[in-house]
Amino acid sequence: MKTIVRTVEDIDRDYHIIEEGAEYIRQGKLVAFPTETVYGLGANALDEKAVKHIFEAKGRPSDNPLIVHIASLDNLERLVTNLPESGRLLIDKFWPGPLTLILPKSDLIPNEVTAGLDTVAIRMPSHPVAYSLIRASSLPIAAPSANRSGRPSPTSARHVVEDLYGRIPLIIDGGECSVGLESTVLDMSGQIPIILRPGGITREMIEDVIGAVEVDKRVLTPPKEGDRVRSPGMKYTHYAPKAPVIIVDGNIDNIKTKVKDRAREYSLSGKKVVVLATEETASMYEDGDFMVFVMGSRACPSTIASNLFAVLRKCDEVGADIVIAEAIEETHEGLAIMNRMLRAAAFRVIK
Ligand code: TXA
Ligand code: MG
Repeated sequence: MKTIVRTVEDIDRDYHIIEEGAEYIRQGKLVAFPTETVYGLGANALDEKAVKHIFEAKGRPSDNPLIVHIASLDNLERLVTNLPESGRLLIDKFWPGPLTLILPKSDLIPNEVTAGLDTVAIRMPSHPVAYSLIRASSLPIAAPSANRSGRPSPTSARHVVEDLYGRIPLIIDGGECSVGLESTVLDMSGQIPIILRPGGITREMIEDVIGAVEVDKRVLTPPKEGDRVRSPGMKYTHYAPKAPVIIVDGNIDNIKTKVKDRAREYSLSGKKVVVLATEETASMYEDGDFMVFVMGSRACPSTIASNLFAVLRKCDEVGADIVIAEAIEETHEGLAIMNRMLRAAAFRVIK
């Protein structure tokens, strides 16, 4: 398939590209587009055939449901059968933005979107390209992250090109995604709201608005055989570069020493080692015979969030044999960062 890449720099000047994308969506074709979190691979959420193409292009297991993206609250009422008061408060505060709500679905949503579940994931993105594309198409857009299944999510159009060039007809390049990790997924379909996937809207931010919420135990621990998996996406190994990743956890001095020792060992045995460090620790590894990539600053974890996937992809680009990553504190954005890092590492952690 021929893939066209179009660049939107100025939404008003380049609005014809948004209209072209919207026309593709209306015709049941796939469009990759930027959101504030990661790039999405979109299709008309009400067209089951179009939605099936998403699963084919990504190589995604068909039991992993998609997020439906909207640009107006009128649409929400048609797509879900119930919105609790706490959901309304969160929408007022965080939409448009990186928060996805799981709600009971209406009959309008095809089973292909929800993988047969009776709930649907909905979010209103704040990125101007995403927002205008949904508006211009006058349709809800189902969109998973625009990566090949299992790869780190794309935070630039170049990443989408790497994974999906020749497999989809149109990629809209709108620059780099600011948040860099996928949206927070909050299940509001039961008695107590549960964070199924942490993201840019943190647990602390949600609790400030609606009080205590739960965090699904699978956010930081591996799935077990026979688990009732609330969020099918959590089952799959995700975000992984080709080289094995090992996380080093503990107090900061312990982390620095262990990372350095391990990196030395592997490098002496002839392996190409990449260390994923932070601004605060990178100087510690300067004299080693291995590469050091800085993920961001511990003092400002959102910088780590926005770089993490690009850094994981870079490990592949340089042909790493082994990646040794520093753990981050699991509060605020740190919870989302560790959720992705643990999966990239297939839960290999040393202390
Ligand atoms: O930031 C994002 O959320 C990006 C951008 C493109 O919006 N999208 C994204 O989609 O990350 P995806 O498909 O890569 O991840 C969707 C997650 C998966 O873990 C999936 O299992 C979960 O949401 N999910 C979707 N519908 C669900 C449902 N009804 N119940 C439970 N989990 C659901
Ligand atoms: Mg994904």
